[in-house]
Amino acid sequence: MAKLEAFEVVTEKGIRLVFRSLIPADAEAFLVYRKQIPLDSTHTMQYQGMKFPSIDEAAERLRTQLEDRVQLSIGIFESHRVVGSLNFRMHNPEHPWIQHVGEFGMTVLKEYWGQGLGKRLLLYLDQHARSIGVTRIEANVRTANERGVRLYQGSGFQIEGTRRQAAKINGEYQDEYYIAKLLK
Ligand SMILES: CC(C)(COP(=O)(O)OP(=O)(O)OC[C@H]1O[C@@H](n2cnc3c(N)ncnc32)[C@H](O)[C@@H]1OP(=O)(O)O)[C@@H](O)C(=O)NCCC(=O)NCCS
Repeated sequence: MAKLEAFEVVTEKGIRLVFRSLIPADAEAFLVYRKQIPLDSTHTMQYQGMKFPSIDEAAERLRTQLEDRVQLSIGIFESHRVVGSLNFRMHNPEHPWIQHVGEFGMTVLKEYWGQGLGKRLLLYLDQHARSIGVTRIEANVRTANERGVRLYQGSGFQIEGTRRQAAKINGEYQDEYYIAKLLK
């Protein structure tokens, strides 16, 4: 079972936050959080007007992730509110040639940016990946996402290439970097 036990952090602003695995009972709070993401930024794949799962569907998804050895779904909580998350999975855990490769996505709500929460999520990701024998972690990040690019580079990721015109957002093409980190 891929599970992060609750870990409390007090930010520089004195805010108490808890990092832990998301559980089925978090489904409603997680959906409220997910609906905020596209209002904060266009740097993810969440767009305004997209369809979200029901609370039951979200709870079932969280249960599956919690019970899976590979997948990791971390939430950052301020009291009962979800304010950030990271999701890690493998492309195909059954394929013998890529069992060392994992991918992830992450978001922090805008009002919490710049307090090191992203960096801490990546630390837990690193620990989890090592614990299951993953030695390559990869993701895509829009080239215009300066904060994201800086976070990843500061956490040991390297840019490996560019997906040109990977998205067209509000009528403008946007490129993405392929980024990856090799774990020794
Ligand atoms: C990218 C994101 C996860 C970063 O989270 P965060 O909690 O703000 O990250 P941190 O505070 O740990 O660190 C961010 C880095 O950006 C730097 N930074 C701060 N303000 C910045 C700015 N205006 N421009 C560029 N970099 C900036 C910080 O200094 C830090 O780098 P450092 O460790 O070298 O000092 C968050 O901004 C976010 O969720 N953005 C929208 C969704 C998104 O982009 N998700 C990732 C998709 S690939």
